[in-house]
Amino acid sequence: MYPDSDTAALYDLLNPWDPERNACDRFYHPLVMGADAVLDVGCGTGAMLTLARERGHTGRLAGLDPDRAALERARRRGDVEWIEGRAADAAPGAEFALATMTGHAFQTLLTDDEVRASLAAVRNALRPGGLFAFETRHPAARAWERWNRANPNDMTELVDDAGRALRYWHDVDSVAGDVVTIRGTLADAEGRVLRVLGESLRFLGVTELNGFLAEAGFLVEEQYGDWDRAPLGEAGPEIITVARRR
Ligand SMILES: C[S@@+](CC[C@H](N)C(=O)[O-])C[C@H]1O[C@@H](n2cnc3c(N)ncnc32)[C@H](O)[C@@H]1O
Repeated sequence: MYPDSDTAALYDLLNPWDPERNACDRFYHPLVMGADAVLDVGCGTGAMLTLARERGHTGRLAGLDPDRAALERARRRGDVEWIEGRAADAAPGAEFALATMTGHAFQTLLTDDEVRASLAAVRNALRPGGLFAFETRHPAARAWERWNRANPNDMTELVDDAGRALRYWHDVDSVAGDVVTIRGTLADAEGRVLRVLGESLRFLGVTELNGFLAEAGFLVEEQYGDWDRAPLGEAGPEIITVARRR
């Protein structure tokens, strides 16, 4: 996902982890601080666990991600475990009280097989009674229809560490069933394209998602449609789930 250290740094510029400013980060932060052993699956550059340690978490914090450049950035923090691997590679030690998948990382699981293998591994990494908290965008909200440069809300203006003014936007390349393939473009102020980053995201519906969770041995305890804990809505925008390992 991040071809090099610059793009991993760009991810942090575009998505600063900040529970004071971002409702999604505010949702996860107390869960993490309240759990004595946390596995962050798809941890990316590791911002969530890094902040938890900075804010005084004294327990076990482990981040798992298949992306080398992102993990390299995460490893700047030496007192968190950083493990290279996919969700499906999570070690089956039943050691964790909480597993998370934030930043819509769950949507990178593109096939039924990958979803099944990932949920099984996350379940086996959790202690009996442990929690798995994650979100996926509700397909009914059709978020991808607003991912284009004509939408001012999709155009992020930013300034990099060197003081350069940059802009970043998305375009959709294809929608195939419930998998949407997008492109993120980084350009300078004059519109010169600097980077193009592609990714595919799956938009699972509630019924299908809950079927996979039940099959993997999870009990859905809480499910919300938005970060203010609004009930699941028919129009989305999110499916935020807290599920317990049976
Ligand atoms: C949008 S980033 C989210 C990063 C971080 N969780 C956050 O909230 O900022 C999605 C992450 O999922 C990771 N990823 C991709 N495929 C994965 C898989 N099969 N299992 C676990 N993580 C995966 C990517 O490498 C990427 O770091």
